[in-house]
Amino acid sequence: MSDSLSGKSILLGVCGGIACYKAVELLRMLMKEGAEVSVVMSGNADKFVTPLTFQALSGRSVYHNTFEAGSSDSMDHIAFAKKADLLIVAPATANTIAKMANGLADSALSNLFLAYDGPVVIAPAMNSVMFEHPAVKANIALLKERGAKIVDPEEGELACGAVGTGRLADLDDILFSTRSVLTRNLDFTGLQVLVTAGPTREFIDPVRYISNPSSGKMGYAIAEGFRDRGAKVDLVSGPVSLKKPSGIEIFNCVTASEMNDWVQRRFPHCDILVMTAAVGDFAPKTIQKEKMKKGGRQSLNLELHATVDILKSVAQKRTTQYIAGFAAETENLIESAKEKLVAKDVDMIVANDISAPGIGFQSNVNQVSLVFKNGTVERLPRADKREIADTLIDRIRGELKA
Ligand SMILES: Cc1cc2nc3c(=O)[nH]c(=O)nc-3n(C[C@H](O)[C@H](O)[C@H](O)COP(=O)(O)O)c2cc1C
Repeated sequence: MSDSLSGKSILLGVCGGIACYKAVELLRMLMKEGAEVSVVMSGNADKFVTPLTFQALSGRSVYHNTFEAGSSDSMDHIAFAKKADLLIVAPATANTIAKMANGLADSALSNLFLAYDGPVVIAPAMNSVMFEHPAVKANIALLKERGAKIVDPEEGELACGAVGTGRLADLDDILFSTRSVLTRNLDFTGLQVLVTAGPTREFIDPVRYISNPSSGKMGYAIAEGFRDRGAKVDLVSGPVSLKKPSGIEIFNCVTASEMNDWVQRRFPHCDILVMTAAVGDFAPKTIQKEKMKKGGRQSLNLELHATVDILKSVAQKRTTQYIAGFAAETENLIESAKEKLVAKDVDMIVANDISAPGIGFQSNVNQVSLVFKNGTVERLPRADKREIADTLIDRIRGELKA
């Protein structure tokens, strides 16, 4: 059992949507992490799951009826709300979202929402057409503007049979947002960050390409790290099989040339650029229109041309941006990184020894050295990619202050 939420008082607001049953599991997960959880229900949540279920699992009375004497102890909940560290509303219905955005107080949950002035995490779940409705969008935007953390719903098959965006976010994502809101340091608020991630593919013919095994995990971890510290993040992503992170604008691309197009477009708007993508250095000079046949050949020569040097090209156009690039090397790691830093005129190179076993491409762990403009080199210990990302972001913060 992890105890990352140990000692935290959490209010779990549950609404009357089809995903209501998932709040039962969320309650258990929060308690497993050590949180003290008190459940509050919207006006219609008890049509889906009984208060008794939440009461039995949380070991606390459930606030679900504002007026019925004896069914709940509303004053107790107001007292709990005063000392609660966080309110999570999951699933959040369109109806309760509208009430929270507009200050209506006609259910236990909407009353408590107004009586509570701490951080709020909201995980909407509804039919995709409802979710796309301008009224719902506007209400969510308003709550976000007022500081609520929105855990975006996922795309997929919905309970009504339709396919679209509206399914309650993965419970692990809600838990992750909960942790990050409780521990957050919003020191990048107001800054725009551009991150590139993943590999590129350079096609030989319609079905074959030259690429590399980059998974994109390092870049996605960095993008999420900046997001969690208040930055607005654009992520230019090569083809990866990672889940789209919430709260980040994603620009998908396949080739180095497409990645270059997105980076050139987004770069003027950013304050910080971190290029982790493993961009192909060479691409076939011509792409065969039809799938090539072996045709009895014993060998094949491909003529390649160098792709655009995205990092160098944007660094030349910089105004005030802080720029960090990654260098994946198999030999002379630090020397090559120092040369790259000068050649590309960037502020930091993150040197990544991809020859070391068990780290780098595909792996969840990494081990990198940070090479700074002033010549210093910091070797970070082997760690989870998200931990590496957080340390890297700390160092960038330090550099911006210097
Ligand atoms: C079977 C069923 C499933 C529903 N699922 C959802 C849903 O997932 N999301 C949503 O916003 N509303 C859903 N609704 C509509 C809400 O229940 C309705 O808007 C209700 O007024 C919400 O009340 P509350 O916000 O007090 O929980 C559903 C209704 C029914 C009958």
